[in-house]
Amino acid sequence: MSRGPSTPVGAFPQTRMRRNRRWDWSRRLVRENVVTPDDLIWPVFVCEGTEDEPVPTMPGVVRYAVGNVAAAAGEAKALGIPAIAIFPATPAELKTPGAEEAWNPDNLVCRAVREIKNAHPDMGVMCDVALDPFNSDGHDGIVRNGHVVNDETVEALCRQTLVQVEAGCDIIAPSDMMDGRIGAIRKALDAEGHQKVLLMAYAAKYASAFYGPFRDAIESKGFLQGETKDTYQMDAANSDEALREVALDIEEGADMVMVKPGMPYLDIVRRVKERFGVPTFAYNVSGEYAMLRFAADNGALDYDRVILEALMGFKRAGCNGVLTYFAVDAARLLHDG
Ligand code: PBG
Repeated sequence: MSRGPSTPVGAFPQTRMRRNRRWDWSRRLVRENVVTPDDLIWPVFVCEGTEDEPVPTMPGVVRYAVGNVAAAAGEAKALGIPAIAIFPATPAELKTPGAEEAWNPDNLVCRAVREIKNAHPDMGVMCDVALDPFNSDGHDGIVRNGHVVNDETVEALCRQTLVQVEAGCDIIAPSDMMDGRIGAIRKALDAEGHQKVLLMAYAAKYASAFYGPFRDAIESKGFLQGETKDTYQMDAANSDEALREVALDIEEGADMVMVKPGMPYLDIVRRVKERFGVPTFAYNVSGEYAMLRFAADNGALDYDRVILEALMGFKRAGCNGVLTYFAVDAARLLHDG
């Protein structure tokens, strides 16, 4: 029988792709990627007071009262989650145009970090560096004449970094997308003897509508008054630009880089990982959480299966780890098999 030129040698019927898929053991043998609790960073919200508060646009997610956050962290740690990321819902009366609360050593974030590190010194604690939780403009930087100014914001970010590190934060994660902030923060850390602090750069962070529920959670949405962050966060249309951003952040001293959002941007993760081969993370953001959660709560999706599949997508794309609100649920499922 003659082969047509389009039929590669070894094709069907010699090759049957389904053979490897036939058994559970054979599927496990050929499996290329794996998700473990080691891959997860759990973002948590903290608030003042003694009562946890639900976040209505993120069912199942709460803002932890600062006194309860160490216990929550302990649960995550017991499940094998290596690190937790803290986001404060700063009381409205403390938000100012200059965002001074960001470098108050007793602000909500710093207190939460101290609580967690006291209870769990061997758990990684990560803090965002950006002004939006503290700023009465709702922007990640300081606004002057209607514009988010870069260099003055970077100085503020350095101050914010130092109070967080002095509270015990292990990983500083600048999420503001100002130019030059990684280098400036690294220099500020070194000048104060904080050489061991890790920097995870939100290197390719896009101006995204998927952050909506997060802005509810930290109560910054009202302050932003419908404005976008298009003058500092990246345009969703761009991919080469992400590589330039990542290259700069590595050069400026980032230890790890992050792409954000996650699921609609996994092509960026793949390019970053292939090009630079550095520890690469993605943020499975609040809107992605809400999408799957609301769909599952309404019977459209199987929650347990869909969250593990989504996390596998991140690993397959090249992520070393994922920031995800699913972290605790996923870790529990991974333990239960
Ligand atoms: C703030 C910040 C944002 C997120 C993390 N840090 C929102 C924003 O840039 O407006 C988003 C996280 C999420 O949506 O889960 N700089």
